[in-house]
Amino acid sequence: MSAQLIDGKAFAEGLRKKVGTIAASFEVAAGRKAGLAVVLVGEDPASQVYVRSKHKATVDSGMKSFEHRLPADTDEATLLALVDQLNNDPAVDGILCQLPLPGHLDEQTVISAISPDKDVDGFHIINAGRLSVGQEGFVPCTPLGCLMLLKDRLGDLSGLEAVVVGRSNIVGKPMAQLLTDANATVTIAHSRTKDLPDVVRRADIVVAAVGRPEMVKGDWIKPGATVIDVGINRLDPEPGKDKGRLVGDVDFTSAREVAGAITPVPGGVGPMTIAVLLRNALVAAHRNEGLAVPADL
Ligand code: GUN
Repeated sequence: MSAQLIDGKAFAEGLRKKVGTIAASFEVAAGRKAGLAVVLVGEDPASQVYVRSKHKATVDSGMKSFEHRLPADTDEATLLALVDQLNNDPAVDGILCQLPLPGHLDEQTVISAISPDKDVDGFHIINAGRLSVGQEGFVPCTPLGCLMLLKDRLGDLSGLEAVVVGRSNIVGKPMAQLLTDANATVTIAHSRTKDLPDVVRRADIVVAAVGRPEMVKGDWIKPGATVIDVGINRLDPEPGKDKGRLVGDVDFTSAREVAGAITPVPGGVGPMTIAVLLRNALVAAHRNEGLAVPADL
């Protein structure tokens, strides 16, 4: 039997529609649009594509987009001055500094300079701490999107065995925290985990976020498990092609024969990230104006 496909693209479209409706109510209530600032330093081609998509999605949702493009040789003081200006701008509810930054800039220094209440990426240590102790803050977009897909598919996650493969600050760690808060029994596995296939085989929920193409094989998956593939890896091009295939961290062909449900790559987790970013920016806007955050956002 072949697994059901979890259509992240459709779910993300639904979320963006909801964000659009609530953004319109926010504008009426606050007398201004919710605003998201995106800072891009340098000309990394992938980052340029992301930033363009974020700008378009923000405007399409009825929010104001502030785009700041700085040259690759921008010094730290100049970047920190811009962050400070955005922190103090009441029209800016959320600030995102696109990563990676050029090598001479320290990412932690820059993230730490963003006001935690405008840190819609959820990367600031204050927001990591808030998540860890269960306080209201901002949760990184990708794991929050994964949680939304899991709840949509499975409903209550209480008592389920979840294995998160990968321990990054951006995905693995916050994902484990969110699953724990949702009452799942959580294991974080990684490159040094012993008997990784056996560990993954215990899981009702597998979240793969290691950045290794097709690492998680079908025979690692418990029959009927729900598999969330966060990986986006481009393989080397086949002969005669100029671009390689996009694959996840899960070997989709073998895993879909065993799993109950699985996210495809592309079209699974990827589209959720921007939709959740817009959601976080709108949450920030409500908090900044002292308005109640709609319960369904
Ligand atoms: N680069 C790739 N993904 C992301 C993201 O979600 N946020 C930021 N700030 N940079 C990124």
